Order: sequence, then C-alpha cells, then structure tokens
Amino acid sequence: MTTLVIGGAGYIGSHVVRLLVERGEHVVVVDDLSTGFAERARGADLVELDVTLPDAQDKLAFHLHASGADSVIHFAAHKQVGESVAKPELYWHDNIAGLANVLAACASAGVRDVVFSSSAAVYGVPDVDLVTEELIPAPINPYGETKLVGEWMLADAERAHDLRTVALRYFNVAGTGWPDLADTQVMNLVPIVLDALDKGKKPIVFGEDYDTPDGTCIRDYVHVVDLAEAHISALDYLRGEERPYRVFNVGTGTGSSVLDVIAALSRALGEEIVPEIGPRRPGDPAKLVCSTDRIRETLGWSSSKSLDDIVESAVAARRGTPEATSA
Ligand SMILES: NC(=O)c1ccc[n+]([C@@H]2O[C@H](COP(=O)([O-])OP(=O)(O)OC[C@H]3O[C@@H](n4cnc5c(N)ncnc54)[C@H](O)[C@@H]3O)[C@@H](O)[C@H]2O)c1
Repeated sequence: MTTLVIGGAGYIGSHVVRLLVERGEHVVVVDDLSTGFAERARGADLVELDVTLPDAQDKLAFHLHASGADSVIHFAAHKQVGESVAKPELYWHDNIAGLANVLAACASAGVRDVVFSSSAAVYGVPDVDLVTEELIPAPINPYGETKLVGEWMLADAERAHDLRTVALRYFNVAGTGWPDLADTQVMNLVPIVLDALDKGKKPIVFGEDYDTPDGTCIRDYVHVVDLAEAHISALDYLRGEERPYRVFNVGTGTGSSVLDVIAALSRALGEEIVPEIGPRRPGDPAKLVCSTDRIRETLGWSSSKSLDDIVESAVAARRGTPEATSA
C-alpha cells in the first residue's frame, strides 16, 4: 500500500507518517515546508511542492502515478483562526485551491481513497452538551468555513469521480508521540502556556465567568498519537467495503477546562502555575466537547491517552527528555 501524505512534514501529518512507516507502508510526503520540516518525513520519500500552485495538479497526478499510490491524506492548510479573519482571501485561496488540485489529481490518476483534515471549527459555537456529527455546521470564521467547504468538495468529488472520502473533524489536538515531532507552533493552549513560562511570563486565561464549573472554557483535548491512529483507522475503513459515513468527530468525549489543563501542566512540571485572568475572547464557546459514538461504532477507534499523558509528553518534548517517546 502506498499513501501520499500532503502536509506530512507538519505536526499532525508527521505523526501519521511515522505510524504508516512503522506498519510497513510506503509513504510519499508532499510538502512545501512552509511550516513543516523535511527531517520529520524520515522513512518516507519527500516531494517539495506547493499544492496551491496552478501546475500542482499535474505534478501531483505525476507523483501519484509514479509512486503507485492508492490513497491520499490531505493535511496541508493554513490553520489560524485570527489570521483567517484578517486575511480571508488567503484562506479561501490556499485551503480551497490546494484541496481542489488534490481532488482533481486523484481523479486523473485513478486514486480512490482520500482522508481530509477537517476541524471542530465547522461547528462554530454550538450550545449543546456533546457535539454530534448530525449537528448542522455553522462556522463563525473563514478558517472554519474553508474546512466546511472542503467537506462539501469531498462529497462533490465522490459524485463526479467515484472517489471515496473521509473528513475527520479534529477537536483540540495536543501532546507529542516522538520528541522530534513536537508542535513547534505556539497556537494551542498547551504550547501557549509552556511558551509563556519559558519567557518568565504568567499564562493568560481568557475569561473565568463562563457557565462552567470553574468558570473557564471547556474543550476536548485529544493526544496527537490517538488522532494519528484515527487516520490509520480511516484509511482501513476506506479500503474496506462498508462505508456508511463520510464525516467523523475525533476527540475523547471528555471535557477539560483551561484551569484543568493548567493544573495538569503544574503536575507535569512539578511547580504551581499561577495564571493571569484576562477578558473573554470573542467567539469562544463555553464548552466544545464531541460525541465519539460514530467513530467508535463505525471505525472501532477510541482515544486511549489522558490529559496527563498529553501534557507530560509535551513537557518532556520541550525539555528534550525521553518520556516523550511514550507512543
Ligand atoms: N493542530 C490542530 O490543533 C488542528 C485542529 C484541527 C484541524 N487541524 C488541521 O490539521 C491539518 C494539519 O495541522 P498541523 O497542526 O499539523 O499544521 P502544520 O502547520 O504543522 O502542518 C501543515 C503542513 O502542511 C504544509 N503545507 C502548508 N501549506 C502547504 C501547501 N500549500 N503545499 C504543500 N504543503 C503545505 C506545511 O509545510 C506543514 O508541513 C491542517 O489542515 C489543520 O487545519 C489542526
């Protein structure tokens, strides 16, 4: 089996590449290395290519043919909510044009199976206890909108070209499976807190007056290795016969508040973290936790790692200690 992993030199993609290589599959990573690193693609062939360029479709089709690929996992995208609000045209162009090139290349090369990185951002600010896939998506920023349009594009490509696709809606991804694959971008809560501490600053908690038990926002934190394994399950699902669904939530089904995460980080670091309390940020729902029923029942996947596993692996990777090799 050969899989073309687009964005496979990035944080999440490189974890999937490593699992695929470990199970003996041939992997070709396509990446423009804009936020990724070539050394993360160890064990795979690396093609340096920006998939948004006009000639990318032909180049992708060539590499799909040449490698004998039978499946594609598409990670490459811009992913910053704030940036997407400031530069919507960048998100509409790159996230959508990139996916269009990928789907067209799959169609022309006769590659059938495609897994797409979607996001909980498609749900917007749902006022429900557990988010199920049946909820009508209502993204509130261009980033989430491009992910939802991406899901529609998959459905269109299935009808037009006989592809088979899965969109995985990731909730809050954190942790590290291998120290060299750590999340180097400071965009999610765990790296943001660790980065503030490294700079001798207090991490800021945005709002402590939400309608939650401790007043801070609750999210569903999934370990990146669990998430990577969900991609392997999705590939196996596409390679099989039965395929009732195209969209799956990927999370744990359990919520942790911002203060829960800070407490877990305090335990992992062996020192008490005292945050600063700031105002709420616009667009932050009080609670975003997913139902995992569909993915558990259909793909047989469920998370196995805890919040403590997540923060311990992130802390160990930052310190360069061997605990981060816990995957
Ligand atoms: N990290 C999260 O918490 C999270 C949550 C939900 C969804 N996602 C989605 O998961 C995917 C991967 O996220 P990540 O955290 O690994 O990000 P990342 O930035 O670490 O990885 C993205 C990879 O894609 C490559 N890339 C970007 N644009 C490209 C282009 N035009 N052509 C070729 N390669 C390109 C980058 O160099 C990088 O290696 C994204 O689609 C993101 O929207 C991430």
